[in-house]
Amino acid sequence: MSLTRLLLAALVAVPLGLIIAIPSASAREDYETRNQALDDYEPDIVRGQVMFRQCALCHGQRGQGIIGGKYPRIAGFPEYYLMNALRDYQAGRRGYDAMLVVGGLKTYDDRQLMDLSGYIAQLEIDLSVPIPEQGNARGGSRKYRNDCRTCHGRRAEGLSRKDSPPLRGQYYQYLLRQIALFRSGERIHADDPEDETFDIYDESDVFDILAFVASFDGAADDEEENE
Ligand code: HEC
Ligand code: HEC
Repeated sequence: MSLTRLLLAALVAVPLGLIIAIPSASAREDYETRNQALDDYEPDIVRGQVMFRQCALCHGQRGQGIIGGKYPRIAGFPEYYLMNALRDYQAGRRGYDAMLVVGGLKTYDDRQLMDLSGYIAQLEIDLSVPIPEQGNARGGSRKYRNDCRTCHGRRAEGLSRKDSPPLRGQYYQYLLRQIALFRSGERIHADDPEDETFDIYDESDVFDILAFVASFDGAADDEEENE
């Protein structure tokens, strides 16, 4: 290889390495600092509604997503989680370029992200979603209780002190895709690059948990209480 070729190869390889580098544990430390600067900021829901029009192209008018989960449901998600997710997409910690461009996310500052998150958080939708046929909700209930509940909440509603999202009311195909991303290291679960949550589970265990989460309603709750 000639010297110029070598240099060229290096020029291409270095930025490429930066792009595909797996995000580090401290990746989100800056979010804390940024949040402090937003302490007194009251989200402008009306401004958020206007920005949301771009998002609705994929996520639907009410943030209901689409059946099959290509576009996840985001209505009613808590603000802390929306802020983390939107910043992750902006920073390339989660990858979906269409959202930055078509969604307009690329140029929003933290206050605009707050306006947008404030608007999405107050949208209400029906939480019933299809249950995966491959899964057994009863078996999933036990696994969920052992390994997911402390962080995602008793009713899979998400917990602010854990920075976790709700899992109920979401299309299981989307959740399945995220678990695959966690396993491959392309997305970081629980803000921990060493996370081993999914190591002990095979595909059928995962379907059981997703069936449990999708079937989440009052009845599943009582059953859990009585066991
Ligand atoms: C071109 C279609 C498209 C547009 C426009 C779009 N999104 Fe998305 N969004 C997606 C897809 C696909 C995913 C799942 C990507 C992945 O697997 O990470 C996603 C994921 C998300 C998530 C993560 C959900 C979760 O459970 O973690 C949030 C939050 C979100 N979008 C908000 C928005 C907002 C706010 C806008 C407008 C600024 C927007 N999106 C615009 C397609 C879109
Ligand atoms: C140590 C706490 C913790 C435990 C235990 C945990 N999670 Fe999570 N989980 C999180 C956090 C925090 C996030 C949000 C990650 C982010 O912000 O990108 C998350 C995200 C997810 C997502 C992505 C949701 C979305 O909307 O994109 C799925 C799916 C998920 N967890 C499933 C599970 C399952 C199933 C279990 C049990 C087998 C589990 N988690 C156990 C903390 C946890």
